[in-house]
This record gives sequence, structure tokens and C-alpha cells, in this order.
Amino acid sequence: MSEDKFLKGKVALITGAGSGFGQKMAIAYAVKGADLVLNDINEDGLEETRNLVLEQYNSKILLVKADVSNSKEVEEMAKKTFETFDNVFVLVNNAGIDGGLYTALKAKESVYDKVFAVNVKGPLNVTKAFFRNMKRQKQFQPIAGKIINIASVAGTPNGHNPMLGIYSASKAALIAFTKLWALELGKSNITVNAISPGVFLTPIYNNDPKLIRQFLETRNVKIPIDRIGEAEWVADLAVFLASSTADYITGQNFIIDGGMSISVNKLN
Ligand SMILES: NC(=O)c1ccc[n+]([C@@H]2O[C@H](COP(=O)([O-])OP(=O)(O)OC[C@H]3O[C@@H](n4cnc5c(N)ncnc54)[C@H](O)[C@@H]3O)[C@@H](O)[C@H]2O)c1
Repeated sequence: MSEDKFLKGKVALITGAGSGFGQKMAIAYAVKGADLVLNDINEDGLEETRNLVLEQYNSKILLVKADVSNSKEVEEMAKKTFETFDNVFVLVNNAGIDGGLYTALKAKESVYDKVFAVNVKGPLNVTKAFFRNMKRQKQFQPIAGKIINIASVAGTPNGHNPMLGIYSASKAALIAFTKLWALELGKSNITVNAISPGVFLTPIYNNDPKLIRQFLETRNVKIPIDRIGEAEWVADLAVFLASSTADYITGQNFIIDGGMSISVNKLN
């Protein structure tokens, strides 16, 4: 990635920015000159991300504690955002939870409700609260804004994970929303794309490669590019999607998984 500050004067809002991919994306967008709205339910995580960014970059940063599954809190976040900034050019729906290891039919209703609330209703709440303002951002022509949904390879037909049954279905729903919103917002010059990571070293796996290896072995899954992913690689893809090189790309789901999804049940 070049050092070109193509996001100067533009704001990137990232949900779930207190950890993992969200934290790396905050840094990656700051490298490109963006100002930041960082959202999470975890205030300590938000502080940590802000400090990491400010160690090296002078982005203006707004921290917003809000639960994405709560539409009132999300509307309040939109209000605070536009009191501080005059745009949100990049909106990354990244906050997500896995809900634990259950098959789809054995998961409790409470797991279903929680996982769908955060992973599906969350991005819907956030997108609904911001898209009208994004549409009006004529100053950034030809593209008014970019929405990036962090889905998962588990949400794709080759990657559905039986032991993450509810999670897989929630991410499939987010990929469907990606295409539906791309159709709806295309005429407003807003692109909408998804990133579907495979298995990456983040706090979701306690940053523990051994835990990931065990997880892969129990599923008998092999990764053709035989490495566990590093969160920066997802952040780099999110930077590409925010760049003008990706202006003509919308409604797509970018799988970044070392080939795991094409190998499931085929390399054993
Ligand atoms: N790590 C992986 O291998 C992997 C693979 C595929 C997809 N993903 C997806 O990537 C995204 C980020 O995952 P990660 O690995 O960085 O996980 P993570 O647990 O490190 O980060 C998720 C962040 O979201 C926040 N969050 C949770 N619920 C929230 C809510 N209701 N409102 C606001 N914030 C909330 C958490 O506090 C946390 O800071 C998730 O959507 C996850 O499903 C991760």
C-alpha cells in the first residue's frame, strides 16, 4: 500500500473498533489520513485504539460507546458524529460476536437472538442511521461514500461451519444485505461491499494460534496457503475498498481466507 493520504478530509467510522480487525482498520485508515469515529461497547478497548493511532498519526478521533444492536444508541452515535464531523465517507460494520459453539438446531433462543441482534440488526441499524447523510456528500464525487461489511467465510456456502451454526447464518444474512444495499444505494453513488475473513489471529481466538490450529483440526479443515491470517491483511483489503481504485466495485463479497473455503472437505 502506498503512503498516499487519499483519505485526508474524509472520516471513517468503524464499529467494534476496540479490538481485533477494528483496531487494525483504525490504524490503517489513519495511515491514509482519515479522521475516525471509533465505536465499541468496550471503552477500554476504544481508549487503547485511540492511543495506538495517536502514537503515530494526528487523526481527529471521536470515541462513541454504543451497542450497535440498540437503534436508539446508534441514532445517538450518528448525532454525535455529525456534531463533530461533516462527513462519514467510509462506514465499516465490523462489530460482531460468534455466540459460542453450537449447531444451528441446538443453539438456545437467547444465542440466536443475541447473535442476530449484533451481527445482522447491528449493521442494519448503523447503515440506516448514516446512509442519508452519506448520500448528500457531493463533495466526494463521483463516489459519495463506501460501506464495508465484515462478514465471514462462515457465511459463504463453502464455508458454513456447523459448529457455528447461528453465526454462519447471521453472516450469510449480512452478505445478502451487502448485495441488497448495493442495489438500493448505487444510484446515490454509495458502494457496498463485504469482506469475509477465514481464520485470523484476533482476540476472538484469544490471539492464540494453538487454539486456532485445534479448531481447524476438529473440523478437519486445511488452509492451502498454510498460515493463520494476520488482522492487518484484512485492514489492507478494507483500505483498498475505501480507495478510488475500488470505485466501480459494489455488491461484492471478498473472501480472504488463504483458500480455506475452496478446500473444506477436499484436502483431507
Ligand atoms: N477473527 C476472525 O478470524 C474472524 C473471521 C471471520 C469474521 N470475523 C468477523 O470480524 C469482525 C471483528 O472480529 P474480531 O476477530 O476483530 O473480534 P474481536 O472480538 O476482537 O472484536 C470485536 C469487537 O466488537 C465489539 N462488539 C461486540 N458487540 C458489540 C456491540 N453490540 N456493539 C458494538 N461493539 C460490539 C467487541 O467489544 C470487540 O471490541 C466480527 O464481525 C467477526 O465476526 C472475524
